[in-house]
Amino acid sequence: MKAFEHQQEKEKMAAFGSVFMPEMAMARFDGTAWGQSAIVPSDSISLHPGAHVLHYASTCFEGLKAFRHEDGSVAIFRMDKNVARMQQSSELLSLPTFDATLLSQMIVDVVRHYAADVPTPPGSMYIRPTHIGTEPAIGKAATPTLTSLLYVLLSPVGDYFAGGSRALRLLMEDNARCAPHMGMIKSGGNYASALQPTMQAKAKYQADQVLFCPNGDVQETGAANFLLIDGNEIITKALDASFLHGITRDTILTLARDLGMKVSERELTVEELLERAAKPGTEAALSGTAAVLAPVGTLIHQGKEYKVGNGEPGSTTAKLRQTLNDIQWGKTADTHGWLTKI
Ligand SMILES: Cc1ncc(COP(=O)(O)O)c(C=O)c1O
Repeated sequence: MKAFEHQQEKEKMAAFGSVFMPEMAMARFDGTAWGQSAIVPSDSISLHPGAHVLHYASTCFEGLKAFRHEDGSVAIFRMDKNVARMQQSSELLSLPTFDATLLSQMIVDVVRHYAADVPTPPGSMYIRPTHIGTEPAIGKAATPTLTSLLYVLLSPVGDYFAGGSRALRLLMEDNARCAPHMGMIKSGGNYASALQPTMQAKAKYQADQVLFCPNGDVQETGAANFLLIDGNEIITKALDASFLHGITRDTILTLARDLGMKVSERELTVEELLERAAKPGTEAALSGTAAVLAPVGTLIHQGKEYKVGNGEPGSTTAKLRQTLNDIQWGKTADTHGWLTKI
């Protein structure tokens, strides 16, 4: 580790996402073409106060990670998927479109720039591509921004849920996280709309997260997908426009199939979830880039608490998490071609 001393590194990783590398990759769309991307200081950007993003929320972002392997090399996990999701988010928000190669190159450039600072496992370098509408135009509530800014921030991180050892408490809410046609877009507004319910769930029920279940349909939490593990079967909502198509979700389902598990992507109702949760061996987990695969021990529904299985972190969750970490950390063969070595 070149740039950070060990203790410094620990301190820097204490609060997820609050420490940034001093430079980032940035490119501008001027209304007709994308300019050359460059590595620039990450402490500030200059925006007109009337910028489209500040008024009409023309913004989307991504979250992915680079990992340090034992041989010292650095690998980015499933970059192509995050780039594709960011292209889709941009398109659905009517932000300027961009080629996958532009963003991929920006990610690789900035991670390479800070390759020496990528933490060792269980830490990693969190990568935050961001796309914002910059046109100064406050009369454009119903018209897309002409110009935009794309940048890639880096933030060294530790283990978000402290090793995944504590089983989480989820409050099941009857409301949606966001408007149904926005769910598959990774846009800032969706997070803003989930904030109040999540804060209330924390204050009132000491819940870690809200599991959004509009009309009894088990969807996702504020920042992760929900998976139910019943014996050899893993059950999760089938993809539709109402929730974020998590890349960790896709990864875990692929690994589960590899391990011979039955994967059921279908509707999961609150009623079925609570019924299955009552069985002794049942497990539940949250999947996400930050959460990795975090065990869920308690569901709170209409003021009542329900244990999932015995309420403790389950062995299948732990096995799937370990299988994923082993690939990310370069300890097992990357048979699906998920790593980009830089
Ligand atoms: C709302 C929401 N759902 C699911 C996920 C999981 O997505 P991924 O596995 O791609 O990180 C996230 C992200 O991080 C999220 O913010």
